[in-house]
Amino acid sequence: MRAVIASAPGGPEVLSVGEAPEPVLRPGEVLVDVAATAVNRADTLQRMGLYPVPEGSSEIIGLECSGTVAELGEGVEGWSVGDEVCALLSGGGYAARVAVPAGQLMPVPAGVSLVDAAALPEVACTVWSNVFMVAGLQPRENFLVHGGAGGIGTMAIQLATALSAKVFATAGSAEKLAVCADLGADVPINYHDEDFVEVLTAAGGADVILDNMGAKYLARNVDALATSGRLVIIGMQGGSKAELDINALLRKRAAVIATALRSRPAEEKAAICAEVVEHVWPLVADGSVVPVIHERLPLEQVEVAHRLMEESGHIGKIVLTL
Ligand SMILES: NC(=O)c1ccc[n+]([C@@H]2O[C@H](COP(=O)([O-])OP(=O)(O)OC[C@H]3O[C@@H](n4cnc5c(N)ncnc54)[C@H](OP(=O)(O)O)[C@@H]3O)[C@@H](O)[C@H]2O)c1
Repeated sequence: MRAVIASAPGGPEVLSVGEAPEPVLRPGEVLVDVAATAVNRADTLQRMGLYPVPEGSSEIIGLECSGTVAELGEGVEGWSVGDEVCALLSGGGYAARVAVPAGQLMPVPAGVSLVDAAALPEVACTVWSNVFMVAGLQPRENFLVHGGAGGIGTMAIQLATALSAKVFATAGSAEKLAVCADLGADVPINYHDEDFVEVLTAAGGADVILDNMGAKYLARNVDALATSGRLVIIGMQGGSKAELDINALLRKRAAVIATALRSRPAEEKAAICAEVVEHVWPLVADGSVVPVIHERLPLEQVEVAHRLMEESGHIGKIVLTL
């Protein structure tokens, strides 16, 4: 089948479209004919050889897709051949076909095209599981998301706004800050010339922070937290090692949590997907949450797509179509 092949660990130029063996369908899985996939930062790390593939997952890059059900594995119920779906994957999305545990399939939300649905699984599952299931963001609480104009950020702003939180979002340019505001952010913060700690402290502190920066922002994120605040770290764009002032956490009775979606067991991913379908898809169907897509490129332009992500020139998601 057609699939993206990495000739060796390295830059975007190692990627090209070639031939790979068809996936083997295991019991409990569904075979999907892929219509589109989307690019994630983890894909760029995997390409460089810095992100080991979880045991049992496809070696082909790609953490999400949309497409049509082609075949049902033994014991699968509730889906039929021909159903239009999107899926959270632990690998294998940059290919014509992928085998997916049935619990990680979701219907395409009403009002979204089959191609654009590929932009939703990773951001919807990451934001819902961390901001709502783990950190328990409540209406009227202060919510800060870093990287507000990225894939995760654009989903986080919309979901937190739809669920009545007060939303603060950081970004690095006027264009990106305007997008954050358009999506519902109450307080866009330019991280180059404003101090998010000062902004949040003046507002009573952040009840929940969704952080993509890791080490670089750890101390300042703790400073920006409110009493009983929850800092959830999902990325290490600013490094992975930093000092943590436990006294500052103790005084605030605050929590620091770090999570990764890809390495979670299939049952946990299935539980997250079920919650996303229950809580997020209705907001997509009524237009309160939309997929934000920077560009739709053919799979053959995978090298361009990876460069775009690494240069952070994009707003929202980058989709690859088959
Ligand atoms: N743990 C998990 O399960 C999980 C799942 C999905 C994603 N992630 C992680 O979440 C992060 C975001 O993913 P994504 O798909 O949204 O990537 P993305 O689309 O590339 O967004 C990242 C954003 O970070 C911003 N940024 C860079 N430096 C910043 C700084 N100093 N302060 C604030 N923002 C800054 C960039 O925009 P500017 O131009 O504004 O700087 C960019 O918009 C990545 O690190 C990814 O690996 C983790």
